[in-house]
Parts: sequence; C-alpha cells; structure tokens
Amino acid sequence: MDKTRIVKTLRWQDETQTQAFAQALAARPALRTATLELQGDLGAGKTTLVRHLLRALGVAGRIKSPTYAVVEPHQAQTPDGLLNIWHFDFYRFNDPREWEDAGFRDLFASPGLKISEWPEQARSVLPVPDLEIRLSVAEDDSRMATLTARTPCGEALLA
Ligand SMILES: Nc1ncnc2c1ncn2[C@@H]1O[C@H](COP(=O)(O)OP(=O)(O)O)[C@@H](O)[C@H]1O
Ligand SMILES: [Mg+2]
Repeated sequence: MDKTRIVKTLRWQDETQTQAFAQALAARPALRTATLELQGDLGAGKTTLVRHLLRALGVAGRIKSPTYAVVEPHQAQTPDGLLNIWHFDFYRFNDPREWEDAGFRDLFASPGLKISEWPEQARSVLPVPDLEIRLSVAEDDSRMATLTARTPCGEALLA
C-alpha cells in the first residue's frame, strides 16, 4: 500500500533559500514529534539543512555532524517548552543489532524530533517517517528537494 499523501518539489538556488525553508519548517507545531528522513548523495546538503533547522529551532553552540557517533542529541528551548532532538546519520550503520543495543528503538519511541540521514542504511529497523526529503544537486549547483509526506503529521508539515 502506498502511504504517500502529498509530494512537493522545491528548488533552492543557494544556502540562504535552504535556510529559509528550514526556518519555515521549524515554525510548524507538528515538527515537535516528527520523524524526518533526508536522502541524497554526499554533498547534496542533508547536514546543511539539518544545521539550519536546529538553529531555527533554537539550538545553540556547535552542531556536530553525527557521522561517527551515529546519533547526536540536541535540546532546544522553545516558546512551547524544551524540545528533544536526535540527529542520526546511518551512513556507517551496518548491524541491525545496534538498533536495540544502542537504544535507538527507545529514542524513536520518545517524544521529540528525530532526523535521519542515510535512512537507506537502516531501512529494516526504521519506522515509516512522517516526512521524507530527497535532495539532489542541479547542474547550476542549486538543490532540488522532493518532499513526501507519509503520515498525517507529515501532511501537516507540508500544508
Ligand atoms: N542550496 C544549498 N543548500 C544546501 N547546501 C548547499 C547549497 N548550495 C551549496 N551548498 C553546499 O553544499 C554542501 C553540502 O554539504 P552537506 O550538507 O554536508 O551534505 P550531505 O550531508 O548531504 O553530505 C555544503 O558545503 C553547502 O555549503
Ligand atoms: Mg551529512
């Protein structure tokens, strides 16, 4: 069964436009419990988008890329209270047992925002995301983003 509900395609000419999208997404109340997946080749702009999103949500300090740790936890002080955020990068994830052992199942069951880069690497264990964002680099170096909502929460993020 295809759970696709809404698909949107956007073009970001430069990082400022990527940032503007991140700021608009950060303003959505539905984001507080959402799961996002970011797909695209190395250099497509996945981590850049996540950094702008975390900044827009109010995360202060250095935002490390989780490539070696698989997950980097963050917290943001928002007008609606403290928000827990987990930024995953499954690029080097190759043992599904780690899903249980490292407590990822518990993290995904917790309230907060979960963002995954390289979800393809953990497909057998990851839940269906609310919103899938597929990035690619166009010839003029702008970024094409295909956004697919897979749940009502994802629909609310794109509405
Ligand atoms: N419109 C854009 N949106 C996002 N990143 C862009 C854009 N244009 C150029 N870039 C650059 O592309 C690179 C993307 O790197 P990164 O976000 O680490 O990619 P990924 O996490 O997908 O491997 C960064 O150096 C960023 O500055
Ligand atoms: Mg990255």
